Amino acid sequence: MNQQLTAVILAAGLGTRMKSKHAKVLHEAGGDTILNHVIRAAMAVTSPDRIVVVVGHQADKVQASVRVPGVRFAIQTDQKGTGHAARCARTAIDSEEGLLMILNGDGPLLRAETLRGLLKTAEEHGGGGALVTTQMPDPTGYGRILRDPQGMIAAIVEQKSGTPEQLAIGEVNPGAYCFSAPEFWKHIGELRPSIPAREFYLTDMAEILARHGHPVAPFPVEDNTELLGINTRVELATADGILRMRKATELMLSGVTIEYPETVTIDVDVQVAADSVIESNVQLRGRTTVGSNCRIGTGSVLCNCMLSDDVKVLPYVIADSSTIRAGASVGPFSRLRMEAEAGERTHVGNFVELKKTKLGNGSKASHLAYLGDATIGSGVNVGAGTITCNYDGERKHSTVIDNGAFIGSNSTLVAPVKVGEGAYIGAGSTITKDVEADALALGRAHQVD
Ligand code: UD1
Ligand code: MG
Repeated sequence: MNQQLTAVILAAGLGTRMKSKHAKVLHEAGGDTILNHVIRAAMAVTSPDRIVVVVGHQADKVQASVRVPGVRFAIQTDQKGTGHAARCARTAIDSEEGLLMILNGDGPLLRAETLRGLLKTAEEHGGGGALVTTQMPDPTGYGRILRDPQGMIAAIVEQKSGTPEQLAIGEVNPGAYCFSAPEFWKHIGELRPSIPAREFYLTDMAEILARHGHPVAPFPVEDNTELLGINTRVELATADGILRMRKATELMLSGVTIEYPETVTIDVDVQVAADSVIESNVQLRGRTTVGSNCRIGTGSVLCNCMLSDDVKVLPYVIADSSTIRAGASVGPFSRLRMEAEAGERTHVGNFVELKKTKLGNGSKASHLAYLGDATIGSGVNVGAGTITCNYDGERKHSTVIDNGAFIGSNSTLVAPVKVGEGAYIGAGSTITKDVEADALALGRAHQVD
């Protein structure tokens, strides 16, 4: 990590072309905001306290969306262009020595390796620093790169101001720069408003530095998909697809089997251990972690869940903020939510819902049950159709079922209520009073023949 490197991320713009009431950098691709992806890349080359994010449009929301502690912020009240935004960062920067990396906040695909390469080129070259360039088959909208006879950057010409010859150039500026900090700050005052946009273009710094004898070196990158800037929702979808495939590839290379990888949706922060199998059309969202030797059945959607090793999730399980312990089997068609916990070797079967409920080790709820606000011990059998009646219309109440109890099919347990260890509830009972350990409880009408 270079101690002399400050990274500035430009994220103050509105993003008119997104046609949204939310600031552009707050839109999500690959399971995180556009801005957080850029911050993630910057963190590979510098520490959070040396990262400055320039915010402006919806500044509070953008600032709140950044989860990395220590990152600094600078405000650009009026969006007068990328050069002006960079100038606004100056107040939040401690050192004007070394290198100054500036990244557009709308390029979520940028890889850490590319920033390392850019940094190396800037260090080796000296002078004004370096900037990433790439060839785009359709360069429309990007700044075009003009080179001097030595191959250095002579200038960057924006779409709005280019001549037809300049606009025919395929080498573009993707918006990742690493300037020599002393030269950059010394000359930033020379930026003038562009014609016709009346904005201060950061891109003009290449020409200004060249004029002062400190030309900027190009760092050409072949894979232009990594350098896509997001300006429309079409580009957002393209970026999402690339990030999803990147994540799936990373997991496969680390030992996870993914069937039909192009159909799965796995967020960037998800972790899956080796030898687990992910079937088609699975979604793993948020901060979900999956242990080793698990199988996640087709169509399942797990968000912020924790799965230990050897867990079987059968098809079409929907689980949110829940834990599934080693050797458990959940599904098909089960729902776990609000910190539900399926203990070791438990079995949660079809059409069973667990809400804020802990199912102890080895317990089973195999069919058609609603278990809400319940603490269920180990070795319990919950019969088909069991319901914990946890809501009296005003408040929620809890149910406790102790170890080894047997709940007969179609029982309703009216909370607050406790079923003691080893107790047996006859099928079809409505239980409104606590049941002693080892007792047989029947709460139903006698059969008349
Ligand atoms: C910019 C570059 C262009 C490059 C392209 C790559 C300039 C003048 N042009 O154009 O050469 O090819 O990116 O994607 O830099 N921003 C602010 N404050 C402002 C204006 C913009 O913070 O006043 C931020 C935006 O939030 C965005 C980034 O800077 O994250 C780039 O701005 P954008 O308007 O998208 O620039 P482009 O037109 O794409
Ligand atoms: Mg842009």
